Amino acid sequence: MKIRTGRLIGSRQWQERFAATGIDADRKTARVLRENKQAWNDWGSIDPLWSIITNPDLKHGRGAIEEFWRLGEAEISHVMSTAANLGLPARKNEALDFGCGVGRLTRAMTRHFSYCTGVDVAETMIDQARRLNQGYPCRFLVNDTNNLAQFDDSAFDFVYTALVLQHLPTVEVIRTFIAEFLRVLKPDGGLLAFQLPTHVPPRSLRNRLRLRTRAFAALAALGLDKRVLYERFNLVPVMQMHFIPKQEVLTHLRSLGASIVEVQCGRFEFGEIDSATYFVTKPG
Ligand SMILES: C[S@@+](CC[C@H](N)C(=O)[O-])C[C@H]1O[C@@H](n2cnc3c(N)ncnc32)[C@H](O)[C@@H]1O
Repeated sequence: MKIRTGRLIGSRQWQERFAATGIDADRKTARVLRENKQAWNDWGSIDPLWSIITNPDLKHGRGAIEEFWRLGEAEISHVMSTAANLGLPARKNEALDFGCGVGRLTRAMTRHFSYCTGVDVAETMIDQARRLNQGYPCRFLVNDTNNLAQFDDSAFDFVYTALVLQHLPTVEVIRTFIAEFLRVLKPDGGLLAFQLPTHVPPRSLRNRLRLRTRAFAALAALGLDKRVLYERFNLVPVMQMHFIPKQEVLTHLRSLGASIVEVQCGRFEFGEIDSATYFVTKPG
C-alpha cells in the first residue's frame, strides 16, 4: 500500500515537474533566441566581415572587401555547378539566402537567379547588406523568429544557407528550420542546399574560446564598451557551434518527405570541424 501511495505521489510530482519543465523550456527557447540575436547584432557592429568568414586578414575591419565578395562568388559557382550536374533547379526565378550576414552569398546568387532575398536575425547585418548591395536584384529582411512565417509555402526555386545553422541557438531550432526550408521550397524542381557540421570535437578551438565569450558577456552586462572589450582585451560575443551527425540529418529529411539528391562532405576551421552540404528536393 505504502509503495502504491508513494508511486502515485511520485507520478503526480513528476507530472507537475514535467509541466513546469515545459514552461521553462519555452522560456529557455525565448531566452536563447534573444541571446543569439544580441550576439549577432554585436558581431555585426564590432567586426562583421571577420565574424562571417573568420579569415585573419579581415579581423578588426582590416583587409580588402573584394576578397570577401570573391569567396562568395567562388562558393556559389561551385554550388551552382553541382546543381547543374543534377539538372536542378528547374527554374531560376526566386532564391532565398538564410542567415545572409552582409549579403556575401546573396549578391553572388543574383548572377544565377532573377531575384534573391537574404534574411538574417541581426539588424546590424541587414543594415550593412542593404548598404553594400545597392543595385543588385535582391532585398534584405530581418527574420528573428524560429520560423520563416513571413514567406508563403513553395515561394522559392532555390534555398541556400552556409555557415549559419551551426550558430542557431539549439539543435531543435536547426531541425525546425530545415523543415521550414522545405515548406518554402517549390516542389518538382526546386532545390534546397544547406551546409551543417556533422561533428565538432569537444576540444576544438571554438570550444576552447568559451572563457573569452563568458568574460565578454559579464563585462558587457556591467556596461563596459563592447568594442573596447573586443579590440583591446580580445574578448568576443558568443558564437554557438552546434552540429548534427549526418545520419540524423538524413533521417530527419526523410521523415519530412524530402528527396536527398547529393551530400558533399568536407572539413573547415583548421581541419577541426567535419561538415556536409546536403542537396535536397521536395517531391510534388
Ligand atoms: C558566419 S555568418 C555567415 C553569413 C553568410 N551566410 C555568409 O556565409 O556570408 C552567420 C550569420 O548567421 C546569422 N544568424 C545567426 N543566427 C540566426 C538566426 N537564428 N536566424 C537567421 N540568421 C541567423 C548571423 O547574424 C550571421 O549573419
